[in-house]
Amino acid sequence: MENIEIRELLPEDAEKMIEYLKKIGGETDNLTFGKEGLPVTIEQEREFLQQSHSSRQSVQYGAWKCGEIVGHCNLSGFPRRMSHRAEMSLAIIKSQWNKGIGSMLMEKLIEYARQNDIEIIQLEVRSDNENAIHVYEKYGFRRIGTIPAYFKIGNAYYDFEMMYLDLRQQ
Ligand SMILES: CC(C)(COP(=O)(O)OP(=O)(O)OC[C@H]1O[C@@H](n2cnc3c(N)ncnc32)[C@H](O)[C@@H]1OP(=O)(O)O)[C@@H](O)C(=O)NCCC(=O)NCCS
Repeated sequence: MENIEIRELLPEDAEKMIEYLKKIGGETDNLTFGKEGLPVTIEQEREFLQQSHSSRQSVQYGAWKCGEIVGHCNLSGFPRRMSHRAEMSLAIIKSQWNKGIGSMLMEKLIEYARQNDIEIIQLEVRSDNENAIHVYEKYGFRRIGTIPAYFKIGNAYYDFEMMYLDLRQQ
């Protein structure tokens, strides 16, 4: 895609990442946080990005446009007897939805998983998030169950779908 670069996020991207998280948090109620972003300092974010970079089972990718992060995805590996599995997340800033950036990030993430012996990728997604579920199903994820009232926003409860991609079968 024109003008979009996908590359691994590194410790030096911490400040931009914190800014980006606040932006996407304010644009959607599909994430675990709102416009305040995640409660982390730049130093903590730097450390987190360093840990992801050093771990074979975890990675953070950013979609960059004109020097700004416009989307990201991550893979966080589990330890010990769960080390064949990782959890993922994905988000794009609203002005860039439906331009194929989410799909580009998914492809990069799945390629990373295959190359690093991650056999199963799992995620949870709001049951009414049809856009995201469409993208996940396009890449082979299956719904394996519903978690009732996973989010509470104000007084409203939201169910989530558990989804799962088994790379052993492909
Ligand atoms: C979900 C999200 C990451 C998708 O990213 P994106 O860059 O818009 O995705 P793409 O452009 O690659 O693909 C969008 C696909 O969804 C489809 N789509 C869009 N709205 C849809 C809807 N309401 N129902 C079903 N499919 C829909 C598009 O047609 C497109 O399909 P295609 O690839 O088969 O042509 C993005 O919308 C987002 O960040 N949302 C807010 C955060 C979020 O919900 N993250 C997921 C948390 S689990």
